[in-house]
Amino acid sequence: MDGRQKDKPIMQTSRPTPYSLLVTHFARLLIPLLLLSACTLPTIPATMTATPVVDPFEQNQQLGRGINLGNTLEAPREGEWGLTIRDEYFPIIAKAGFDSVRIPIRWNAHAQMEPPYTIDSSFFARVDHVVAKALDAGLLVVINIHHYEEIMIDPPAHRERMLALWDQIASHYQDAPPEVIFEVLNEPNNRLTAGHWNELLAAAIEVIRVTNPTRNVMVGPANWYNVNWLADLELPEDEHIIVSVHYYDPFRFTHQGAEWVPGSDPWLGSTWTGEGGQTEAVERDLSLAASWGERNNRPINLGEFGAYSKADMASRVLWTHHVARTAEELGMSWAYWEFASGFGAYDPVAKQWRAELLGALIPE
Ligand code: BGC
Repeated sequence: MDGRQKDKPIMQTSRPTPYSLLVTHFARLLIPLLLLSACTLPTIPATMTATPVVDPFEQNQQLGRGINLGNTLEAPREGEWGLTIRDEYFPIIAKAGFDSVRIPIRWNAHAQMEPPYTIDSSFFARVDHVVAKALDAGLLVVINIHHYEEIMIDPPAHRERMLALWDQIASHYQDAPPEVIFEVLNEPNNRLTAGHWNELLAAAIEVIRVTNPTRNVMVGPANWYNVNWLADLELPEDEHIIVSVHYYDPFRFTHQGAEWVPGSDPWLGSTWTGEGGQTEAVERDLSLAASWGERNNRPINLGEFGAYSKADMASRVLWTHHVARTAEELGMSWAYWEFASGFGAYDPVAKQWRAELLGALIPE
Protein backbone atom coordinates (compact mmCIF):
# COMPACT_ATOMS: atom_id res chain seq x y z
CA MET A 1 0.00 0.00 0.00
CA ASP A 2 1.36 3.42 -0.79
CA GLY A 3 -1.14 5.00 1.60
CA ARG A 4 -2.29 7.67 -0.85
CA GLN A 5 -4.93 9.87 0.69
CA LYS A 6 -7.06 11.63 -1.87
CA ASP A 7 -9.16 14.24 -0.10
CA LYS A 8 -8.59 17.70 -1.50
CA PRO A 9 -9.07 21.16 0.02
CA ILE A 10 -12.33 22.90 -0.88
CA MET A 11 -11.80 26.20 -2.68
CA GLN A 12 -14.95 27.56 -4.31
CA THR A 13 -18.43 26.48 -5.39
CA SER A 14 -19.56 25.19 -8.74
CA ARG A 15 -22.11 26.01 -11.41
CA PRO A 16 -23.39 23.05 -13.44
CA THR A 17 -24.42 23.85 -17.04
CA PRO A 18 -27.53 21.89 -17.94
CA TYR A 19 -27.41 21.80 -21.75
CA SER A 20 -26.38 18.84 -23.86
CA LEU A 21 -25.00 18.70 -27.38
CA LEU A 22 -24.57 14.96 -27.34
CA VAL A 23 -27.68 14.37 -29.46
CA THR A 24 -26.37 16.76 -32.12
CA HIS A 25 -23.17 14.81 -32.22
CA PHE A 26 -24.93 11.47 -32.67
CA ALA A 27 -27.18 12.99 -35.30
CA ARG A 28 -24.12 14.23 -37.15
CA LEU A 29 -22.62 10.75 -37.16
CA LEU A 30 -25.87 8.95 -37.84
CA ILE A 31 -27.45 11.03 -40.62
CA PRO A 32 -24.65 10.53 -43.19
CA LEU A 33 -24.55 6.86 -42.21
CA LEU A 34 -28.29 6.45 -42.78
CA LEU A 35 -28.13 8.33 -46.08
CA LEU A 36 -25.24 6.15 -47.19
CA SER A 37 -26.98 2.94 -46.24
CA ALA A 38 -30.20 4.11 -47.93
CA CYS A 39 -28.22 4.50 -51.18
CA THR A 40 -26.26 1.28 -50.97
CA LEU A 41 -28.49 -1.18 -49.15
CA PRO A 42 -32.01 -2.24 -50.09
CA THR A 43 -32.99 -2.51 -46.40
CA ILE A 44 -31.29 -1.79 -43.11
CA PRO A 45 -30.58 -5.16 -41.50
CA ALA A 46 -32.76 -5.74 -38.46
CA THR A 47 -29.70 -6.82 -36.49
CA MET A 48 -27.88 -3.48 -36.97
CA THR A 49 -26.92 -2.14 -33.54
CA ALA A 50 -26.59 1.55 -32.73
CA THR A 51 -22.99 1.25 -31.59
CA PRO A 52 -20.42 -0.15 -34.04
CA VAL A 53 -18.03 -2.68 -32.56
CA VAL A 54 -14.43 -1.58 -32.16
CA ASP A 55 -11.73 -4.10 -31.37
CA PRO A 56 -10.24 -3.19 -27.96
CA PHE A 57 -6.66 -3.41 -29.25
CA GLU A 58 -7.52 -1.09 -32.10
CA GLN A 59 -9.31 1.30 -29.76
CA ASN A 60 -6.36 1.28 -27.39
CA GLN A 61 -4.19 2.45 -30.28
CA GLN A 62 -6.73 5.18 -31.00
CA LEU A 63 -6.65 6.31 -27.36
CA GLY A 64 -2.99 6.96 -28.08
CA ARG A 65 -1.84 10.02 -26.17
CA GLY A 66 -4.39 11.35 -23.72
CA ILE A 67 -4.81 13.76 -20.85
CA ASN A 68 -6.94 13.69 -17.69
CA LEU A 69 -9.39 16.49 -16.97
CA GLY A 70 -8.42 16.06 -13.31
CA ASN A 71 -9.80 18.10 -10.40
CA THR A 72 -12.98 19.08 -12.28
CA LEU A 73 -15.90 16.63 -12.20
CA GLU A 74 -14.08 14.49 -9.61
CA ALA A 75 -14.46 17.28 -7.03
CA PRO A 76 -17.53 17.02 -4.78
CA ARG A 77 -18.95 19.85 -6.94
CA GLU A 78 -17.31 21.02 -10.17
CA GLY A 79 -15.23 24.11 -9.45
CA GLU A 80 -14.66 23.30 -5.76
CA TRP A 81 -11.11 22.18 -6.53
CA GLY A 82 -10.34 25.35 -8.47
CA LEU A 83 -11.05 24.24 -12.04
CA THR A 84 -14.22 24.20 -14.14
CA ILE A 85 -14.18 22.60 -17.57
CA ARG A 86 -14.49 25.16 -20.35
CA ASP A 87 -15.71 24.17 -23.81
CA GLU A 88 -12.61 25.57 -25.47
CA TYR A 89 -10.34 23.17 -23.55
CA PHE A 90 -11.18 20.32 -25.92
CA PRO A 91 -10.06 21.97 -29.19
CA ILE A 92 -6.99 23.25 -27.31
CA ILE A 93 -6.18 19.68 -26.23
CA ALA A 94 -6.81 18.23 -29.69
CA LYS A 95 -4.73 20.91 -31.41
CA ALA A 96 -1.80 20.19 -29.11
CA GLY A 97 -1.75 16.66 -30.50
CA PHE A 98 -3.67 14.60 -27.95
CA ASP A 99 -5.97 11.81 -29.12
CA SER A 100 -8.13 11.31 -26.06
CA VAL A 101 -9.31 12.67 -22.73
CA ARG A 102 -10.13 10.86 -19.51
CA ILE A 103 -12.80 12.56 -17.47
CA PRO A 104 -12.81 11.51 -13.81
CA ILE A 105 -16.38 11.83 -12.48
CA ARG A 106 -17.69 11.69 -8.89
CA TRP A 107 -21.15 10.32 -9.76
CA ASN A 108 -21.60 9.16 -6.19
CA ALA A 109 -21.77 12.79 -5.01
CA HIS A 110 -24.69 13.42 -7.38
CA ALA A 111 -26.90 10.41 -6.65
CA GLN A 112 -29.43 9.54 -3.96
CA MET A 113 -28.09 7.62 -0.98
CA GLU A 114 -31.13 5.31 -0.89
CA PRO A 115 -32.61 3.07 -3.62
CA PRO A 116 -33.14 3.64 -6.48
CA TYR A 117 -29.98 5.81 -6.11
CA THR A 118 -31.12 8.18 -8.85
CA ILE A 119 -28.41 10.33 -10.43
CA ASP A 120 -29.30 14.02 -10.54
CA SER A 121 -30.53 14.86 -14.06
CA SER A 122 -28.77 18.24 -14.17
CA PHE A 123 -25.48 16.47 -13.43
CA PHE A 124 -26.12 14.03 -16.28
CA ALA A 125 -26.81 17.04 -18.52
CA ARG A 126 -23.49 18.60 -17.50
CA VAL A 127 -21.58 15.40 -18.26
CA ASP A 128 -23.45 15.06 -21.59
CA HIS A 129 -22.30 18.54 -22.53
CA VAL A 130 -18.68 17.87 -21.63
CA VAL A 131 -18.63 14.51 -23.45
CA ALA A 132 -20.20 16.09 -26.55
CA LYS A 133 -17.60 18.87 -26.59
CA ALA A 134 -14.78 16.33 -26.35
CA LEU A 135 -16.24 14.26 -29.21
CA ASP A 136 -16.79 17.40 -31.28
CA ALA A 137 -13.07 18.10 -30.96
CA GLY A 138 -12.36 14.63 -32.35
CA LEU A 139 -11.15 13.19 -29.04
CA LEU A 140 -11.96 9.77 -27.62
CA VAL A 141 -13.45 10.05 -24.14
CA VAL A 142 -13.04 7.82 -21.11
CA ILE A 143 -15.64 8.40 -18.38
CA ASN A 144 -15.38 6.65 -15.05
CA ILE A 145 -16.60 6.50 -11.47
CA HIS A 146 -13.94 8.41 -9.56
CA HIS A 147 -13.49 9.09 -5.84
CA TYR A 148 -16.19 6.72 -4.65
CA GLU A 149 -14.33 6.76 -1.32
CA GLU A 150 -17.19 5.19 0.65
CA ILE A 151 -16.96 1.93 -1.28
CA MET A 152 -13.26 1.66 -0.45
CA ILE A 153 -14.14 1.74 3.25
CA ASP A 154 -17.19 -0.54 3.19
CA PRO A 155 -17.48 -2.45 -0.10
CA PRO A 156 -20.50 -4.65 0.78
CA ALA A 157 -22.54 -1.62 1.96
CA HIS A 158 -22.00 0.19 -1.35
CA ARG A 159 -22.14 -2.67 -3.82
CA GLU A 160 -25.81 -2.26 -4.75
CA ARG A 161 -25.47 1.53 -5.09
CA MET A 162 -22.38 1.26 -7.28
CA LEU A 163 -24.16 -1.21 -9.60
CA ALA A 164 -27.19 1.09 -9.70
CA LEU A 165 -24.92 3.96 -10.77
CA TRP A 166 -23.57 1.85 -13.63
CA ASP A 167 -27.05 0.74 -14.60
CA GLN A 168 -28.03 4.41 -15.02
CA ILE A 169 -24.79 5.61 -16.64
CA ALA A 170 -24.72 2.69 -19.08
CA SER A 171 -28.35 3.11 -20.16
CA HIS A 172 -27.91 6.86 -20.46
CA TYR A 173 -24.95 6.50 -22.85
CA GLN A 174 -26.02 3.31 -24.62
CA ASP A 175 -26.40 5.15 -27.96
CA ALA A 176 -23.19 7.14 -27.59
CA PRO A 177 -20.60 6.43 -30.29
CA PRO A 178 -17.95 3.81 -29.49
CA GLU A 179 -15.45 6.61 -28.90
CA VAL A 180 -16.99 6.88 -25.43
CA ILE A 181 -15.34 4.29 -23.19
CA PHE A 182 -16.55 3.35 -19.70
CA GLU A 183 -14.07 2.82 -16.87
CA VAL A 184 -15.60 0.88 -13.99
CA LEU A 185 -13.97 2.47 -10.91
CA ASN A 186 -10.85 4.54 -10.37
CA GLU A 187 -8.17 3.00 -8.14
CA PRO A 188 -9.84 0.45 -5.86
CA ASN A 189 -8.01 0.55 -2.53
CA ASN A 190 -8.26 0.04 1.22
CA ARG A 191 -10.94 -2.62 2.04
CA LEU A 192 -11.89 -3.00 -1.62
CA THR A 193 -9.25 -5.69 -1.88
CA ALA A 194 -8.53 -7.83 -4.94
CA GLY A 195 -11.06 -10.48 -3.88
CA HIS A 196 -13.93 -8.00 -3.47
CA TRP A 197 -12.83 -6.08 -6.53
CA ASN A 198 -12.74 -9.06 -8.89
CA GLU A 199 -16.31 -9.91 -7.90
CA LEU A 200 -17.51 -6.29 -8.11
CA LEU A 201 -15.91 -5.51 -11.46
CA ALA A 202 -17.50 -8.63 -12.99
CA ALA A 203 -20.90 -7.62 -11.60
CA ALA A 204 -20.49 -4.05 -12.92
CA ILE A 205 -19.51 -5.29 -16.38
CA GLU A 206 -22.55 -7.58 -16.38
CA VAL A 207 -24.77 -4.56 -15.64
CA ILE A 208 -23.06 -2.51 -18.38
CA ARG A 209 -23.48 -5.34 -20.91
CA VAL A 210 -27.29 -5.26 -20.61
CA THR A 211 -27.36 -1.97 -22.54
CA ASN A 212 -23.86 -1.85 -24.04
CA PRO A 213 -23.05 -5.33 -25.31
CA THR A 214 -19.84 -4.39 -27.11
CA ARG A 215 -18.64 -1.04 -25.80
CA ASN A 216 -15.04 -1.20 -24.62
CA VAL A 217 -14.78 -1.04 -20.85
CA MET A 218 -11.65 -0.21 -18.85
CA VAL A 219 -10.66 -1.79 -15.56
CA GLY A 220 -7.51 -1.75 -13.49
CA PRO A 221 -6.03 -3.80 -10.66
CA ALA A 222 -6.74 -3.41 -6.94
CA ASN A 223 -4.40 -1.33 -4.75
CA TRP A 224 -4.58 1.94 -6.72
CA TYR A 225 -4.15 0.33 -10.18
CA ASN A 226 -0.64 -0.64 -9.17
CA VAL A 227 1.22 -2.70 -11.81
CA ASN A 228 2.32 -5.20 -9.16
CA TRP A 229 -1.30 -6.08 -8.45
CA LEU A 230 -2.15 -7.14 -12.00
CA ALA A 231 -1.28 -10.64 -10.89
CA ASP A 232 -4.40 -10.59 -8.69
CA LEU A 233 -6.74 -9.17 -11.32
CA GLU A 234 -9.36 -11.61 -12.57
CA LEU A 235 -11.45 -10.60 -15.55
CA PRO A 236 -14.66 -12.04 -16.89
CA GLU A 237 -14.67 -13.74 -20.28
CA ASP A 238 -15.48 -10.57 -22.15
CA GLU A 239 -13.62 -9.49 -25.27
CA HIS A 240 -14.26 -5.77 -24.93
CA ILE A 241 -11.94 -4.87 -22.09
CA ILE A 242 -8.93 -2.56 -21.93
CA VAL A 243 -6.80 -2.91 -18.79
CA SER A 244 -5.52 0.27 -17.18
CA VAL A 245 -2.68 0.89 -14.72
CA HIS A 246 -1.46 4.06 -12.99
CA TYR A 247 2.14 5.02 -12.40
CA TYR A 248 3.55 7.51 -9.89
CA ASP A 249 6.93 6.00 -8.96
CA PRO A 250 9.11 7.09 -7.30
CA PHE A 251 6.11 8.24 -5.22
CA ARG A 252 8.31 10.46 -3.02
CA PHE A 253 9.34 12.32 -6.14
CA THR A 254 5.94 12.58 -7.89
CA HIS A 255 3.97 13.39 -4.71
CA GLN A 256 6.43 15.63 -2.84
CA GLY A 257 4.54 18.25 -0.85
CA ALA A 258 1.15 16.94 -2.05
CA GLU A 259 -1.44 18.34 0.39
CA TRP A 260 -3.53 15.15 0.17
CA VAL A 261 -0.61 12.86 1.04
CA PRO A 262 0.17 13.19 4.76
CA GLY A 263 3.88 13.24 5.51
CA SER A 264 4.91 14.26 2.00
CA ASP A 265 6.58 17.57 2.97
CA PRO A 266 9.93 15.99 3.91
CA TRP A 267 10.08 14.64 0.34
CA LEU A 268 10.31 18.18 -1.07
CA GLY A 269 13.48 18.59 -3.07
CA SER A 270 13.49 15.00 -4.42
CA THR A 271 14.73 15.08 -7.96
CA TRP A 272 14.64 12.67 -10.89
CA THR A 273 17.63 12.61 -13.15
CA GLY A 274 17.17 9.20 -14.72
CA GLU A 275 20.54 8.15 -13.30
CA GLY A 276 21.43 5.46 -10.80
CA GLY A 277 18.92 2.94 -12.13
CA GLN A 278 15.96 5.37 -12.29
CA THR A 279 15.22 4.96 -16.00
CA GLU A 280 15.54 1.18 -15.70
CA ALA A 281 13.08 1.12 -12.78
CA VAL A 282 10.42 2.81 -14.93
CA GLU A 283 11.08 0.38 -17.77
CA ARG A 284 10.95 -2.62 -15.45
CA ASP A 285 7.66 -1.52 -13.83
CA LEU A 286 5.88 -0.72 -17.08
CA SER A 287 7.19 -3.91 -18.68
CA LEU A 288 5.40 -5.85 -15.94
CA ALA A 289 2.12 -4.42 -17.22
CA ALA A 290 3.01 -4.98 -20.88
CA SER A 291 3.98 -8.59 -20.34
CA TRP A 292 0.86 -9.25 -18.25
CA GLY A 293 -1.14 -7.84 -21.17
CA GLU A 294 0.61 -10.16 -23.61
CA ARG A 295 0.11 -13.21 -21.44
CA ASN A 296 -3.55 -12.42 -20.90
CA ASN A 297 -4.23 -11.07 -24.37
CA ARG A 298 -5.47 -7.66 -23.13
CA PRO A 299 -4.54 -4.18 -24.38
CA ILE A 300 -2.89 -1.98 -21.73
CA ASN A 301 -3.55 1.69 -21.01
CA LEU A 302 -1.51 3.84 -18.64
CA GLY A 303 -4.45 5.90 -17.38
CA GLU A 304 -2.57 8.24 -15.00
CA PHE A 305 1.02 9.33 -14.52
CA GLY A 306 2.39 12.71 -13.53
CA ALA A 307 4.60 14.61 -11.10
CA TYR A 308 3.17 17.34 -8.85
CA SER A 309 4.10 20.97 -9.46
CA LYS A 310 6.11 21.16 -6.22
CA ALA A 311 8.83 19.03 -7.86
CA ASP A 312 11.36 20.93 -9.95
CA MET A 313 10.42 21.40 -13.59
CA ALA A 314 13.58 19.84 -15.03
CA SER A 315 12.95 16.59 -13.15
CA ARG A 316 9.26 16.58 -14.02
CA VAL A 317 10.03 16.98 -17.70
CA LEU A 318 12.64 14.20 -17.73
CA TRP A 319 10.41 11.78 -15.81
CA THR A 320 7.30 12.59 -17.85
CA HIS A 321 9.16 12.15 -21.12
CA HIS A 322 10.66 8.85 -20.04
CA VAL A 323 7.38 7.39 -18.75
CA ALA A 324 5.46 8.44 -21.88
CA ARG A 325 8.09 7.11 -24.30
CA THR A 326 8.47 3.85 -22.38
CA ALA A 327 4.70 3.32 -22.43
CA GLU A 328 4.64 4.00 -26.16
CA GLU A 329 7.48 1.61 -26.84
CA LEU A 330 5.58 -1.06 -24.95
CA GLY A 331 2.47 -0.48 -27.08
CA MET A 332 0.38 1.19 -24.35
CA SER A 333 -1.94 4.11 -24.72
CA TRP A 334 -1.53 6.73 -22.00
CA ALA A 335 -3.22 9.69 -20.30
CA TYR A 336 -1.18 12.28 -18.40
CA TRP A 337 -2.38 13.36 -14.96
CA GLU A 338 -3.49 16.10 -15.57
CA PHE A 339 -4.55 19.00 -17.77
CA ALA A 340 -4.75 22.30 -15.83
CA SER A 341 -4.51 21.81 -12.08
CA GLY A 342 -1.69 20.91 -9.67
CA PHE A 343 0.11 18.64 -12.14
CA GLY A 344 -1.11 20.76 -15.06
CA ALA A 345 0.53 20.70 -18.46
CA TYR A 346 -1.67 23.71 -19.33
CA ASP A 347 -1.79 27.01 -17.44
CA PRO A 348 -5.48 28.03 -17.36
CA VAL A 349 -4.70 31.57 -16.14
CA ALA A 350 -2.06 32.39 -18.74
CA LYS A 351 -4.13 30.31 -21.20
CA GLN A 352 -1.09 28.55 -22.53
CA TRP A 353 0.63 25.21 -22.38
CA ARG A 354 3.65 24.79 -20.14
CA ALA A 355 5.89 24.27 -23.13
CA GLU A 356 8.41 21.96 -21.41
CA LEU A 357 5.73 19.59 -20.11
CA LEU A 358 3.82 19.55 -23.37
CA GLY A 359 7.08 18.89 -25.20
CA ALA A 360 7.78 15.96 -22.86
CA LEU A 361 4.35 14.51 -23.60
CA ILE A 362 4.14 15.26 -27.30
CA PRO A 363 7.60 15.74 -28.77
CA GLU A 364 7.83 17.71 -32.01
C1 BGC B 1 -6.78 11.23 -7.87
C2 BGC B 1 -6.40 12.67 -7.76
C3 BGC B 1 -4.93 12.81 -7.43
C4 BGC B 1 -4.10 11.99 -8.37
C5 BGC B 1 -2.67 12.04 -7.99
C6 BGC B 1 -5.88 10.57 -8.85
O1 BGC B 1 -6.28 9.26 -9.00
O2 BGC B 1 -8.09 11.13 -8.27
O3 BGC B 1 -7.20 13.30 -6.82
O4 BGC B 1 -4.55 14.14 -7.54
O5 BGC B 1 -4.56 10.67 -8.40
O6 BGC B 1 -2.50 11.66 -6.66
